[in-house]
Amino acid sequence: MSFYEICGGQPLRGELRVQGAKNSALPILAAALLAPGQSVIRNCPDLSDVTAALEILRLLGCSAVREGDTVLIDASQLTGCRIPDRLMREMRSSVIFLGALLGRLGRAELSYPGGCELGPRPIDLHLNALCGLGAEIAEDQGRLTCTCGQGLVGRELCLSIPSVGATENTMLAACAAQGMTTIVGAAREPEIVDLQKFLNSMGARVSGAGSPVISIQGGIPLHAAEHTVMGDRIVAATYLCAVGAAGGQLRLTGVDPADLAAVCSCLEEAGCRLCTDQEGISIAASGRMRGIRTVRTAPYPGFPTDAQAILMAALAGGTGTTMIVENIFDSRYRHVDELARMGADIQLAGRVAVVTGSRLHGAVVRSTDLRGGAALVVAALGAEGVSRVSGLSHIRRGYQGLDESLAALGADIRTRL
Ligand code: EPZ
Repeated sequence: MSFYEICGGQPLRGELRVQGAKNSALPILAAALLAPGQSVIRNCPDLSDVTAALEILRLLGCSAVREGDTVLIDASQLTGCRIPDRLMREMRSSVIFLGALLGRLGRAELSYPGGCELGPRPIDLHLNALCGLGAEIAEDQGRLTCTCGQGLVGRELCLSIPSVGATENTMLAACAAQGMTTIVGAAREPEIVDLQKFLNSMGARVSGAGSPVISIQGGIPLHAAEHTVMGDRIVAATYLCAVGAAGGQLRLTGVDPADLAAVCSCLEEAGCRLCTDQEGISIAASGRMRGIRTVRTAPYPGFPTDAQAILMAALAGGTGTTMIVENIFDSRYRHVDELARMGADIQLAGRVAVVTGSRLHGAVVRSTDLRGGAALVVAALGAEGVSRVSGLSHIRRGYQGLDESLAALGADIRTRL
């Protein structure tokens, strides 16, 4: 089993252009199903989750070709509406294809994404919203068959939780619904604004993304379009926290600083020096990060749950004490046991983690999930001695060339087979 071998203590220095956002590219690839013709998606990160999405598109009858960081999707001749269990298990966010398939074909067959490393991954909000538009959903032994015989009809829908995926699925289906759909209580993440941009470039009339109320004028024939995916704010947060842990100076480009303001605010409070402009973010850090006021994960624009493990890892090697409250997922502390192997002092009580900074040492650790794995890398970069981080398949779901990029910035990291 391959692993990263990291010798900690090397400060990071240089400039890095952040990869395209996984959590924007995935719904945009699903949205390409809505129209015939070839869509061109630029700045599309080369990740295993994106590869899985391209495989799903091909299974549905699309042509999907990668040319560097550009992906060409031709959805002219769809031949199927079934997503195999294997791919649903491989990428739980495959549920995002549901709304687009219903919108384009009026039918979708897939399995429940099921629970994963973060705890249960229910899709009740997705299904309720789509039923609100007129979909009929039958379940049989974990397989869902979704149809909309009479077609979808737009209406006002309320989400009880600002679910990112449910908002996106509803936007995609609503594009094909007759009349106006209004999503009240929508998620406000920047990736949803990026999806709105792509849909409107396809000829859709979507407005309000980024606010809690999104309106979609449905029934407009859509066409293929070109789009450049936004920068990945969580990958950017990862590199910033890596500098917080290991020290150094880094300039990140290709990401909008406003998309990760909550993370930058925590890093500044912890003693890092940040400077932002239209082009990106610069960070300088020396010494260990200080403890900060309580960090509570929340829907955007609150502190992102995806950055929780990563910030925790940087704080664990610092000084002082910080309380973290994970409010979004039920089980997103699986990285804590692995951080403890490196000497981290983190006490858990339900949703609350109390991090007391200490000098971390190298250890043999295993990634438990995507962001938990990235957190182990961040901790290892600031630890004394050598660490081995395995479970790279988790990390490769969301990070393109993490080891090469860190090595180019001065980290002592290599992949061992
Ligand atoms: C998206 O997942 C992201 N994934 C996640 O990033 C991210 O952590 C999450 O949003 C929250 O920001 C993608 O965009 C591909 P949710 P999603 O629906 O849409 C509950 C990463 O590391 N819920 O906003 O699945 C749910 O259990 C990944 O890149 C329901 O109860 O998240 C959770 O507690 C991890 N019923 C909360 O809502 C539903 O029908 C937020 O989930 C849907 C969700």
